[in-house]
Amino acid sequence: MSITPYTDEALAQSEMNQAMERGPLTDAYQADVDWVINEMNRLRATEIASYLQYKQHGYMAVSMLSPGIKGDFEEHAAAELDHADRLAHRIQQLGGVPIYHPVELAAKAADVGVQPEQAPTLTDMVIANLMVERQQIESYTNFIRQIGDKDLVTRQILIGILAETEEHAAEMSDYLKLRSEMR
Ligand SMILES: [Fe+2]
Ligand SMILES: [Fe+2]
Repeated sequence: MSITPYTDEALAQSEMNQAMERGPLTDAYQADVDWVINEMNRLRATEIASYLQYKQHGYMAVSMLSPGIKGDFEEHAAAELDHADRLAHRIQQLGGVPIYHPVELAAKAADVGVQPEQAPTLTDMVIANLMVERQQIESYTNFIRQIGDKDLVTRQILIGILAETEEHAAEMSDYLKLRSEMR
């Protein structure tokens, strides 16, 4: 049976509309995209909270014993903002919108128990950062396991961020160990 040119055209048009609408999402995409976007927005809110906290600690940290810590806080702050960027780009690719309103961001981060803390001493600052990093490690790890192989690119992005988050946690805990040895 031959397809009339009209039907052919109509089919091509509907395929075109679908392609335009869905972008990178094909039938091979197996995750619930709204869930993925929502979880990424939540993680991104914790990255922005972490960025603000490291920035604050970078401003406030003064230590004769550990002059490098100020720079470490600033370096980590830049990395957190980069994590937030990577998540935002992926959210947009998947057809979502990164949350940008501060009130909503704060609520999302608080949802997973993350909120920026000033902390009175240098050691308290490091502990506060270590706790946020560990909270994120748990959230990223659980999310990656749930995604499995249903969304390979998001999975790869999350694993990249997780690796850097584990590095941050290790650096913060090394600092605390060093500190306790100096006492
Ligand atoms: Fe981060
Ligand atoms: Fe981090």
